[in-house]
Amino acid sequence: MFQMFRLFRKCIKNYGLLETKVLSNCRKTTYLFCSTTHSSHSNEEKLSDLYRHLHSKIVACGPITVADYMKEVLTHPTAGYYMKKDVFGEKGDFITSPEVTQLFGEMVAVWILYEKLKITKCPFQLVELGPGRGTLIRDILRVFQQLNVLSDVSVHLVEISPALSLIQAKNLCKTTKEHNILENEAKHNDVRYYREGVTEDNVNVYWYYSVKDIPKKFSIFLAHEFFDALPIHKFQRTDRGWSEILVDIIEGSKEEKFRYVLSNAQTPAMFYISNDEKRNHVEVSPQTLVTVEYIAQYLQECGGFAWICDYGHSGDKTDTFRAFSQHKLHDPLSYPGTADLTADVDFAVIKKVAEKDNSLLTFGPITQACFLKNLGIDVRLQMLLQNASEEVRKRLESEYEMIMDESKMGSKFKVLSLFPFILKDHFQKLPIAGF
Ligand SMILES: C[S@@+](CC[C@H](N)C(=O)[O-])C[C@H]1O[C@@H](n2cnc3c(N)ncnc32)[C@H](O)[C@@H]1O
Repeated sequence: MFQMFRLFRKCIKNYGLLETKVLSNCRKTTYLFCSTTHSSHSNEEKLSDLYRHLHSKIVACGPITVADYMKEVLTHPTAGYYMKKDVFGEKGDFITSPEVTQLFGEMVAVWILYEKLKITKCPFQLVELGPGRGTLIRDILRVFQQLNVLSDVSVHLVEISPALSLIQAKNLCKTTKEHNILENEAKHNDVRYYREGVTEDNVNVYWYYSVKDIPKKFSIFLAHEFFDALPIHKFQRTDRGWSEILVDIIEGSKEEKFRYVLSNAQTPAMFYISNDEKRNHVEVSPQTLVTVEYIAQYLQECGGFAWICDYGHSGDKTDTFRAFSQHKLHDPLSYPGTADLTADVDFAVIKKVAEKDNSLLTFGPITQACFLKNLGIDVRLQMLLQNASEEVRKRLESEYEMIMDESKMGSKFKVLSLFPFILKDHFQKLPIAGF
């Protein structure tokens, strides 16, 4: 056994031919295992750490699922795409609505407050999943400050990226303090956040790795372009039934590039394909399902609501997995870690999970343009334009167009909200705004 392990390790290290013998039996894919020889990687030192890591992993264990690939590429602790740098804006790879204009966060702030005050006047936690640069929260807090409600709110950010969490801290807080979660656990200390901070207006801000660490209190959850970054499994219907699409190495490749292969056998993730599925190609994100299930339980138990805005569809799209680099489409399997990976959110599945056993009520999905228009974004724009210089006027109008135009972000992004089912009668008397 030990000898086998040594052989195994040597093979992984060298990417040599021997491992084919050791590993080919383990592989249940259409394509037989082909290891890459040294000659193809004569410039091995030029290969990125992430590519080497993924290559070794596949050499060791066989092709990996797209979910595994996506998770590693985006959130590998040292080499993941999100983990190292600011990826947003003109100089980055993509832009998001809160980054385009302050109007976006302002409309969301007004909606949150309006819906929250209809339910309760108690203090609340504002929770954001995947806050990017912290721009959405910053714009929301500015509106809350103008409306004099800051003393009621604390901010709770779920962020896995050390680099982005530092940018959020810089953009939101005047002071911050780091916490070592492992040390706290060892001391049986109940602190579950890895950083805390205070804004200029004395709002407390906390950072967590997982939504499960958020304290159990009335909370408003925001997820803007969060679920599209969570790993997906991809499945293809074949004449043998369903196959999972896996990621494999390309023998002799001189580029940092992988390829898709089909599994020959059943894979555990196939459990997620519904029996009445009509499509021939399906994408499923178990992490999305688990997160929504957790939020559903949380909202039932503690009160609050959730707002989700993302690229998405209603269970009808098929192949949406793609990558963006410098604002252009990029091959998701090329040069991993240099481009953002994303897949459209399946809102139909989110609704199904949220509505299970009458736990939550769902409103939407509707297009971002429709949601913002219903909330009165045009009136807000006119107010801002009134006293604006020509230059600011042009900027505001072009930003508005970008988030509202049906051919741009206006219809690509959809909004869904989730409320505890117990509020059903309440919404008959006081219908929800925006939907
Ligand atoms: C596409 S960005 C969206 C950023 C921001 N919401 C916006 O719209 O500008 C995705 C965000 O989710 C974070 N993220 C990705 N996977 C995560 C995970 N598993 N747990 C927590 N945060 C995650 C990223 O680091 C990043 O902040």
